Amino acid sequence: MAKVKTTFFCQNCGSQYAKWQGQCTACKEWNTIVEEVIQKPEKSDWKISSSNSSQKRASKPLTINAIDASEDARLDTIDKEFNRVLGGGVVPGSLILLGGEPGIGKSTLLLQIALKLQYKTLYVSGEESQKQIKMRAERIQANNDTCYILTETKTQNIFKQIEDLKPDIVVIDSIQTLHSDYIESSSGSISQIKECTTELIKFAKETATPVILIGHITKDGNIAGPKILEHMVDTVLQFEGDRNHVFRILRANKNRFGSTNEIGIYEMQGSGLREVSNPSEILISKKDEELSGNAVAATLEGLRPLMIEVQALVSTAVYGTPQRSATGFNAKRLNMLLAVLEKRAGFRLGTKDVFLNITGGITVDDPAIDLAVVAAILSSNEDEALQKDYCFAAEVGLSGEIRPVQRVEQRILEAEKLGFSTIFVSKYNTISLKNTGIKIQLISKIEDLVSFIT
Ligand code: TYD
Ligand code: MG
Repeated sequence: MAKVKTTFFCQNCGSQYAKWQGQCTACKEWNTIVEEVIQKPEKSDWKISSSNSSQKRASKPLTINAIDASEDARLDTIDKEFNRVLGGGVVPGSLILLGGEPGIGKSTLLLQIALKLQYKTLYVSGEESQKQIKMRAERIQANNDTCYILTETKTQNIFKQIEDLKPDIVVIDSIQTLHSDYIESSSGSISQIKECTTELIKFAKETATPVILIGHITKDGNIAGPKILEHMVDTVLQFEGDRNHVFRILRANKNRFGSTNEIGIYEMQGSGLREVSNPSEILISKKDEELSGNAVAATLEGLRPLMIEVQALVSTAVYGTPQRSATGFNAKRLNMLLAVLEKRAGFRLGTKDVFLNITGGITVDDPAIDLAVVAAILSSNEDEALQKDYCFAAEVGLSGEIRPVQRVEQRILEAEKLGFSTIFVSKYNTISLKNTGIKIQLISKIEDLVSFIT
């Protein structure tokens, strides 16, 4: 039997060491180095096209104009949201990593896409049996004759099947369940993940077949496995959302072939994920009566305008220290806005409990939501409803000034489209829109807002 070879890997950054040490010299983390059994083969595995492909394809330098990029037509995934996030479809030969919390819907999303594709697709699952996948497919009511399901975890066997089937696109659920014969450590270990990804990259680049990998994420939200996994692939997508709510957001954290500003929005239904092409209409509850403490913000998620409802509740504090709680909004920012209201506009909120909630279970980082937060708090404090067709898009500064926000025109147009009558924005925004059906109310100080809405 061959001698068992072991190496030490840092679980955090993937650096390799000949012997154990307490601290990783590369990333400076302590106690992250573990021993893993490896057995490097003499030859690497992916060699379908030819073992001497490197000689055949020895590349020559070319001027940028001489390079032909036309054959890189992207594969249309039919799913509009997925296409948008990728920058217009899947690039042949690219490796896409989709990460997300357990149960968020990664397998559902990719199975759904695989079953919609017009191309020959191989869906490899190391997590579920073929029967379970069939049950899921029945649930999402999708069906076609071009998607093949394989339950396998050994890369060598997967490549054998690929050689027979010659698929146009490969989906792997998930990278953590794969293992290669050439490495002896268990599936999910750093060395296995690295080796399997390397084999898949080689396969993808040599055959121009795109591969989509599902990756688990760790407790602190990073994709499990070495950080270099994210460097190795072309695109890193993140599927996120609150599991108790129906909305799911797909973001690109890295994209070699497109912008990372685009997002895709889905709604999880009993029968799979539905693409949400007009999210604003769902996020704003259409109530007839006007309620105090509600305000609508015109925010941007990536490049997409999104109208979001903010709810605030201000009540007299029963305990000595007033409570402040924010869902979907940064609690520190809430405290700051309360301090601004207290100091600049004279509201005595220091003795009040303040609760803030962004409806729909989404989290907003866009500073343009500030003004709506302030308006909702004032409205709840006075117990007087804001006019239903008002909306807000501006940042609030420490001295109570209303600051301009980016892409304000896009927000105004979205608000107009949804039938709002007035939008409050900063006086310092340059707006060249003319003849809008919506009134653009320019304000410069928090006092201006107070005089308008109370
Ligand atoms: P899944 O795709 O298995 O999550 P992941 O692969 O990210 O771990 O999604 C599982 C969740 O989605 C599960 O809690 C049930 C829910 N679900 C629906 O609500 N509707 C559906 O049609 C399907 C297939 C799943
Ligand atoms: Mg899954």
